[in-house]
Amino acid sequence: MLDRQDWLQEEILRFKREKDVLILAHNYQIPEVQDIADIVGDSLELSLQAANTQRARIVFCGVYFMAETARILSRKPVLMPVESAGCPLANMATAEALRQWKVEHPQAAVVAYINSSAAVKALSDIVCTSANALKIVQTVPQNEVIFLPDQGLGSWIAEQTDKQLWLWPGFCPTHYHLVPNDLARARQLHPSAKVLVHPECRHEVRALADAVLGTGGMLRLVHTDPAAAFIVGTEEGLLHRLRKENPGKEFFLASPLLLCPNMKKTDLASLHRCLAENCTQIEVPSEVEEGARRALERMLSIS
Ligand code: 13P
Repeated sequence: MLDRQDWLQEEILRFKREKDVLILAHNYQIPEVQDIADIVGDSLELSLQAANTQRARIVFCGVYFMAETARILSRKPVLMPVESAGCPLANMATAEALRQWKVEHPQAAVVAYINSSAAVKALSDIVCTSANALKIVQTVPQNEVIFLPDQGLGSWIAEQTDKQLWLWPGFCPTHYHLVPNDLARARQLHPSAKVLVHPECRHEVRALADAVLGTGGMLRLVHTDPAAAFIVGTEEGLLHRLRKENPGKEFFLASPLLLCPNMKKTDLASLHRCLAENCTQIEVPSEVEEGARRALERMLSIS
């Protein structure tokens, strides 16, 4: 008899075929979910996959803003196994507060990190991800930019451009757990390891790293870098792919607190239920859908 895990995997694959579903999973998902997905990737890669898929529907294993983005870009039904998997960072910016900032900074372009609601994207000129934020900020014609909602990524961009950035005070609670002391301890334990951190980390943490990269950038660097060991300053889910794709190398999580509870809500049982019962379908408020699509498609056109 099949054990429960094998049965769930078989059923998920059967539903996926029968219902013509594309399963997308973010790099922070648990290993079992990553292993059954069609595509595992960073925010930009998954957005591109959603925009270009020929499948009839998408199941998105990630957090809410990602599924919402997939729905907007694909114009197809998008289902999410656990609808309550939100992003606290995305929730730190409201459309109402952004309207006020736009009044206060009338000359500024608005660049919204993809970790934001459709309502915020709709009020923005263009969207960016960790993979293309610097390029996007450099591309907008204005010299002033309202950058929201992540002050970690925003301050990292501000350090690399002459433009005036107005930084929203949002932050990722998971990446903010990482403090300089963690990196000092990790370097002491693994002196030859390279330190990679996500741009959502604090400035003091980024300053101590060997490289600052989004999850896709970390994967690409590790494939080509001669180092044999890496200290990883991002959510622990990424270690699964890093280890799987680089069996000869070693990876150490920079802090045991680098765990996003929302990314861990999806498992094989919830993915199975989602496929079996066609729930939960993501709806985007009609009054913001067009505006959010415009800002997202602008990003894709220059990525
Ligand atoms: P990446 O695009 O680097 O995968 O980042 C996604 C994210 O939500 C980080 O918290």
